[in-house]
Amino acid sequence: MIRPARVSVREALREAEERLEAAGVETPRPDSEWLAAEALGVKRAVLAGRGDDPLGEEARARLEAMVARRARREPLAYIVGTVGFRGIEVECGPGSLVPRPETEITAGRAIELARDRGRRPTVVDVGAGCGVIALAVAAEVPGARVFATERHGAARGWALRNLARTGLRVTLLPGDLLEPLHPALGGCVDVIASNPPYLSGDEVESLPDEVRRYEPREALVAGPTGLEVILDLLEEVPLWLAHGGWLVLEVAPHQAERVTRLLATVGYDRVTVTKDLVGRDRVVEGRWTGVA
Ligand SMILES: C[S@@+](CC[C@H](N)C(=O)[O-])C[C@H]1O[C@@H](n2cnc3c(N)ncnc32)[C@H](O)[C@@H]1O
Repeated sequence: MIRPARVSVREALREAEERLEAAGVETPRPDSEWLAAEALGVKRAVLAGRGDDPLGEEARARLEAMVARRARREPLAYIVGTVGFRGIEVECGPGSLVPRPETEITAGRAIELARDRGRRPTVVDVGAGCGVIALAVAAEVPGARVFATERHGAARGWALRNLARTGLRVTLLPGDLLEPLHPALGGCVDVIASNPPYLSGDEVESLPDEVRRYEPREALVAGPTGLEVILDLLEEVPLWLAHGGWLVLEVAPHQAERVTRLLATVGYDRVTVTKDLVGRDRVVEGRWTGVA
C-alpha cells in the first residue's frame, strides 16, 4: 500500500476506525478517538475541532502502533495505560483486571455504608487488583482507615503505582482474602467490599478476546462453579466484621439470587441487591448480625 505523505486527523481517524471494525472491535469509533487523542497528547474532547489538522509523522507512527495493538484485541486501557474510576485516574496493564463501570457501583455502596458507620470507619477491599475500590473509599470517606488485600504480585504492582500516583492512604497487604489483616482488626471492620473472581473456567471461554486473551485468569476465574472465592470469603468474614458491619459483594447477575439467599441464612440481615447501569443484578450487600 502506498502511504500518503500527509493525512489529516479526520482521515487518520477514519482509517483507524475501519481497521478496528475489521478486527471485530465492538466500539471502533470511540476507541479510535481515544487512541488518536493519546497519540496527539490531547484530550479526546478537542479532537472534533482538529479534524483538518495534519497528523505529524511521530503522532502518526504512535497511532499506527496503538491501532495495531488494539486490532489484536488488546484492551484499550492497557494501551492507553489509564482508566477513570469515580473521578480518579488509575493506571492498569497486564496482570491487572481493567476496572469496570459496574465496580464504581460496588465502590459506591461501600462508600455510602462506610459513611453511615460514623467517624473513622475501617474498610477492607478484598482482591484489590489495581486498587480502585480501596482508592475510591479513601478518596470519598474522610478519615476512613482503608486496607486492601491482593494475592497476586503483578496486580499489587499496579495498586502500588496508583497509591503513589494519587497520594491516597491505603494499606496494601499481600496474601489470601482476609488472612493478611492484623489480628487486632478482628471484630472491628465496618465494611468489607470485594469484586472477587466469580466466573467458571467455561464462562471465560465465551468472553470477548480482550478479556479471554489478555486479562489475568486469577482475576476472573473462581473455580469450576464460579462461586468458590465468594464461599471462601463468606467463611472468613465473620471473624473480622464488627456487629452491624457490612459485606458488599460484586457478583455475576445470575449469582445474585443465590448469594442473597446465602447471606440471609448465614447471619446477615438487610440483604439487598443493587443493579448495574444496564439494569442487571450486580451488587449484593448484607449487614452482619453476629448470629449465624
Ligand atoms: C475481579 S478482580 C477485581 C480487581 C479490582 N478490585 C477491580 O474491581 O477492578 C479480582 C482480584 O482478586 C484477586 N484475587 C483472586 N483471588 C484472591 C485471593 N484468594 N485473595 C486475594 N486476592 C485474590 C485477583 O488477583 C484480582 O486482582
